[in-house]
Amino acid sequence: MDKLIIAGGARLEGELRISGAKNSALLMLPASLLANEPVTISNVPHLRDITTMIELLGSLGVEVVIDEKMQIEIHANTIQRFRAPYDLVRTMRASFCVLGPMLAHYGQADVSLPGGCAIGPRPVDLHLKGLEALGARIEMDEGYVKANVDGRLKGAHVFFDVSTVGGTEHIMMTATLAEGRTVMENCAREPEIVDLAECLIKMGAKIEGHGTDTIVIDGVEALGGCEHAVIADRIEAGTYLIAAAATGGHVKLKGANPQHLEVVLSKLDEAGADISTGDDWIELDMHGRRPRAVSVVVGVFPAFPTDLQAQFIAMNSIAEGTATVKETIFENRFMHVHEMNRMGANIRLEGNNTTAIVEGVPRLKGAPVMANDLRASVSLVIAGLVAEGETVVDRIYHIDRGYEQVEEKLASLGANIRRVPSTG
Ligand code: EPZ
Repeated sequence: MDKLIIAGGARLEGELRISGAKNSALLMLPASLLANEPVTISNVPHLRDITTMIELLGSLGVEVVIDEKMQIEIHANTIQRFRAPYDLVRTMRASFCVLGPMLAHYGQADVSLPGGCAIGPRPVDLHLKGLEALGARIEMDEGYVKANVDGRLKGAHVFFDVSTVGGTEHIMMTATLAEGRTVMENCAREPEIVDLAECLIKMGAKIEGHGTDTIVIDGVEALGGCEHAVIADRIEAGTYLIAAAATGGHVKLKGANPQHLEVVLSKLDEAGADISTGDDWIELDMHGRRPRAVSVVVGVFPAFPTDLQAQFIAMNSIAEGTATVKETIFENRFMHVHEMNRMGANIRLEGNNTTAIVEGVPRLKGAPVMANDLRASVSLVIAGLVAEGETVVDRIYHIDRGYEQVEEKLASLGANIRRVPSTG
């Protein structure tokens, strides 16, 4: 497995263009199965998860054309099979969302349950409850969800017990072809949901309320093709801003949307950063200062995102003062804490592993580390940037799932980082 070797101490300084949002593109690809004409998605990041999703569509017989700029054209009507296999769905859980579009457009779907993952069990019960409310007949058979419907799905009232990003997206896209009106309540409000809705509306869907906790969809008979550019990745942008703050640096991110990071920017301001923004750029300058410790409580959008929790702990680990970081979304998302403590951080977990108490130390010490989820992995890279000596981050295929050209982008900001291909 490839490794990243980081020599700590450099301040991140310079400009960077932010890639398209992984968690937006990953749902637009299955949504394209709803269309009767080709759907073209642009500004797609070149990531393993995207490749996995394209492989999945290919395994269904769907023709996918990719150009040199990673512009992806999907021809759903070439579909030949309706079974999404376990080995693909388990590696990338967003694949589960091919189920609803296949069911809505072709009346059948046979999709493996995604299984758990490192950060928690991550069930899909709310997805299945929503699909059944729309009239899907669901059977479980050897770890697969077999779904079918006679005729069209029917619009329904869907209430999510938990605010679920994937569940909101899955039911929203499926309901676009159901007969009649679907009202979804207690929806998630993430920008990626809004982006998906805008893409579906370009395809001819009738959706209102996306970005609020109540979304109303009036089903249509058929959806056409469209061209849609994916929004910038707010989590990638937040990651580089936090890394720059941790190193006392000065960066300007182009293509980033500050409206998608309001809470994160206010927390970085509290940490001592000077922040200026425009419609599509964010600049952060620490003037060489060590960050101040800042406490956060993670929550659903617009609260502080769980996908930036690990990165923020890395910054707090070398900040002035003590901070508490509370994780409210996933059950097991503090694995990076133990690795950072091996680097000399002073972090303890409380509240049945829901809260990290981070006492800032002046410097970490480089060490060999690894993690099992992409955000924890990238937080260890940030820890390496602020450590004395050399840090080796192993299993970086996790990072490659969510960060396009991570070492190139960090090196362009002055980091001393290189990738060592696996010898095995
Ligand atoms: C999306 O995952 C993101 N992935 C995750 O990003 C992100 O961490 C998460 O939302 C929360 O913001 C994509 O968009 C592809 P959820 P998702 O359904 O949709 C529980 C990354 O790093 N739940 O909002 O799977 C669930 O267990 C990834 O890019 C149910 O109980 O998250 C969790 O505790 C990691 N039943 C909570 O809801 C369900 O049917 C939030 O999960 C569905 C979810």
